[in-house]
Amino acid sequence: MRADLVVVGSGLFGLTVAQQAAERGLDVVVVERRDHLGGNAWSELEPETGIEVHRYGAHLFHTSNERVWRYVNRFTSFTDYRHRVWSVRAGEVYPLPINLGTINQFFRSALGPAEARDLVARQAAEIAGEPANLEEKAISLIGRPLYEAFVRGYTAKQWQTDPTRLPASVISRLPVRYTYDNRYFNDTWEGLPTDGYAAWLTRMVDHPRIDVRLETDFLEAGHPFSRDTVRGQVPVVYTGPVDRYFDHVHGALGWRTLDFAQEVLPVGDFQGAPVLNYADDDVPHTRILEFRHFHPERDYPTDRTVVVREYSRFAEPGDEPYYPVNTPTDRERLAAYRTMVEAERTRHQVAFGGRLGSYQYLDMHMAIASALRLVDNDLDDLLGRVAPRL
Ligand code: FAD
Ligand code: NA
Repeated sequence: MRADLVVVGSGLFGLTVAQQAAERGLDVVVVERRDHLGGNAWSELEPETGIEVHRYGAHLFHTSNERVWRYVNRFTSFTDYRHRVWSVRAGEVYPLPINLGTINQFFRSALGPAEARDLVARQAAEIAGEPANLEEKAISLIGRPLYEAFVRGYTAKQWQTDPTRLPASVISRLPVRYTYDNRYFNDTWEGLPTDGYAAWLTRMVDHPRIDVRLETDFLEAGHPFSRDTVRGQVPVVYTGPVDRYFDHVHGALGWRTLDFAQEVLPVGDFQGAPVLNYADDDVPHTRILEFRHFHPERDYPTDRTVVVREYSRFAEPGDEPYYPVNTPTDRERLAAYRTMVEAERTRHQVAFGGRLGSYQYLDMHMAIASALRLVDNDLDDLLGRVAPRL
């Protein structure tokens, strides 16, 4: 098969580019290393229970971008799911994000919004001047008692590092709501794909001009759509890890990864909510997901449930890269890779994008918006450019 465009990676960034290019009449080959498409948004039914489990961690769709909302609705409808999270701390369960309910439960008080605001402001005033680390930054935002109860242990587990040894820049804000509203997201639109992520993601590339090749690593030689064969011949949109594309010449970029321990339990409801965070540092997992609660509208078994405990750590080679660590060294390396990205684009018609290609955490709606922008602004240029012979 001939191709006008090769897309590397079938996450939401790659799928959006492929879908839009095919709709413009281009023949697109999508190469995907894994044995399924969809990137980290992929989900599957747990075979014993039929409960949909998000394989790479819970994925909640939310956006305030009207174009993205219209676009995704071409491929799936969404349920009216509204995400809410609770935190287990010292044997008590509190609502998150920190809100008036959390504050009044924690301080055993009945404060109104203005009083609660004053209390938190007084406690936050402990830090005068520039916060020297994440702990000081958090205290400067919400005060020490709330920080110690809800942020310290969870953050230490997420980073496997004491918050006094993490840079203040890791957090820019810690939302506190002075109402009892505990909706997790503030976006205009929110929901879960009615018949699941797999159906949504598969429909995006259900097009005669799109050929998806699974279990095909672009960076491994010896197949018709490898970097060595394609580079300089066919334009490429690459959404894999940027450091790996360049064989780590400037060193590896740091990522955090997650480990998931999944169990089927012989009860109809284990925790009564989709997500409970665990704020204490003597509990090793960061949270427990119970997937039945993402789809209360579905006819799931009433005597069994699927729970997943989540653990966070720094990624080693071979682990799934989930969240950029973004140390000063990472940022220096990224700048060096960006120079190579520019050259690769001009010389060989390779554009980089997505979470891994840009070393940036992107929510699904951000990945889609960014892919639509690439199609709007750069696709013609990428296709029209003739690779100069060196
Ligand atoms: P990915 O989905 O990572 O897709 C990249 C694809 O490229 C992968 O399939 C990979 O196998 C493939 N690939 C890489 N290298 C190669 C190669 N050399 N050859 C071939 N294929 C290759 N977003 C939300 O909106 N809400 C959420 O609740 C949410 N939760 C998340 C939880 C976690 C743990 C993570 C990691 C992300 C979460 N996201 C969430 C973000 C969401 O997963 C991203 O928006 C989405 O993954 C971005 O898509 P992408 O295409 O950039 O990357
Ligand atoms: Na998530």
